[in-house]
Amino acid sequence: MTLHIGDTAPDFDIDTTQGKIHFHDWIGDSWCFFFSHPADFTPVCTTEMGRTAQLAKEFEARNTKPLGLSTDTVEEHNKWILDVNDTQNTTLEFPIVADPDHKVAQLYEMIHPGESNTAAVRSVFIIDPKKKIRLMMTYPMSVGRNFDEILRVIDALQIGDKYTVATPADWQKGDDVIIPPSISNEDAQKMFPQGWDEIRSYLRLTKLK
Ligand code: BEZ
Repeated sequence: MTLHIGDTAPDFDIDTTQGKIHFHDWIGDSWCFFFSHPADFTPVCTTEMGRTAQLAKEFEARNTKPLGLSTDTVEEHNKWILDVNDTQNTTLEFPIVADPDHKVAQLYEMIHPGESNTAAVRSVFIIDPKKKIRLMMTYPMSVGRNFDEILRVIDALQIGDKYTVATPADWQKGDDVIIPPSISNEDAQKMFPQGWDEIRSYLRLTKLK
């Protein structure tokens, strides 16, 4: 099965560092930042786990639950978390899926044989409260992800949903947003009474109030 944006995120039952979870029930009414990493006790992964833990308040402010995954066991994860906390000056409180049988990694196509037959690459899935996949990103094992970008894209998705807008290249929270071409000027007047800057008929920028 190939996963696409807009698909329902595959559901699963699995053991984590915080006990067994049924994925969709665990997400509940939140958003989810579901991300895989190749292995415990490795340098890039240690920094990524530390960064996610440091950003706990930022994820919480976005009603987003982080969930990590690697093909290691709960016992290994728990030992490694002590190292993550120690080396990255943080307290890791989000769950990490233990997937030694590759059950979930296969379901989410996190194993790319060109990189490894046994370890996951650095996959990201942003999943909304309706359990739809809203974003997918895949990084190689050797490159740590940009967590500012992960927060930025969650902001963009949530603001897009709330105001029916799109966001331009390099958009940051507070910047102007795009009125999608599917919205007529007549409807836009009702939806965006603050007005907009019409650079082209298909490129209308507005400020959110
Ligand atoms: C790392 O986290 O540093 C790493 C893990 C697997 C392959 C390459 C790098």
